[in-house]
Amino acid sequence: MKHHGRLVLVTGAASGIGRATALRFAREGARLALFDRSPSIERAAAAVVELGGIAQWRIVDVADADAVGAAVSEVVSSLGPISCLVNGAAIVDNIAPLPQMTPQAWSREVGVNLGGPFHLIRAVAPGMIERRWGRIVNISSAAARGGLALQAAYSASKAGLLGLTRNAALELGPHGVTCNAVLPGLVGTDKVLAMPARILEAGIAAIPVKRIGTPEEVAALVSFLCGEDAGYINGAEIDISGGSHLNTLVLGSQKANRTAG
Ligand SMILES: NC(=O)c1ccc[n+]([C@@H]2O[C@H](COP(=O)([O-])OP(=O)(O)OC[C@H]3O[C@@H](n4cnc5c(N)ncnc54)[C@H](O)[C@@H]3O)[C@@H](O)[C@H]2O)c1
Repeated sequence: MKHHGRLVLVTGAASGIGRATALRFAREGARLALFDRSPSIERAAAAVVELGGIAQWRIVDVADADAVGAAVSEVVSSLGPISCLVNGAAIVDNIAPLPQMTPQAWSREVGVNLGGPFHLIRAVAPGMIERRWGRIVNISSAAARGGLALQAAYSASKAGLLGLTRNAALELGPHGVTCNAVLPGLVGTDKVLAMPARILEAGIAAIPVKRIGTPEEVAALVSFLCGEDAGYINGAEIDISGGSHLNTLVLGSQKANRTAG
């Protein structure tokens, strides 16, 4: 079992990519600590247990540094040291033209999407450094590079997450801890699949492989980056977008239709 014996902390694990990632790790032998602000995190943990895995869950707002620190301490006390951290929690639906985006909405989104990973890394890094082994994967977005119309705080926070990834890679690498970012394009979570068909079709038309990705495909990449075979990958920014990051002209019209996540 690829991740046997490891404790993997996944934030945003109640739904979508985070949930799929948790289930992937469970199938590969890891124990899971699942954080989310949504009460449905309990159901995600139950799904891990149904697979024969071990999972603890906490309702945590990742933007709250004290709550993150306390939840990480509790998990370490009961399950032991954390081997891998996957930062998946994010606000994905704050949509407003830039002049109408309120400073409160901006601050909240940056606080969750960028502050959250910072708080989590601060909380888990000392233990990883002590054991001289750790893996951190930050889930950024294609929007970090291409922007996303009507989602300025989202794009900015996901671009900032690349900067945090680089610094974590530089500072933690000497201690045996890697940090990488994955940049999904359009991925078929429940929320994305609920978008109007016309918008989804326009999005798919802009993707070179002519389909949207699955949460399981992102989970597979995250799992790889947390494995032994990925030990020399550090500070990487890996697109998982069916090639849509190459297709900037078409992406431009896609963005105008508000299709990417
Ligand atoms: N689905 C896509 O097309 C897509 C594309 C690019 C990037 N992403 C990224 O993938 C990650 C997962 O997104 P998803 O599409 O599965 O969306 P999702 O909304 O299904 O999952 C996000 C999860 O984060 C949780 N969350 C939000 N704010 C939180 C907070 N303050 N504290 C704790 N938990 C919080 C939500 O409750 C939810 O369970 C996100 O980082 C997102 O930006 C998704």
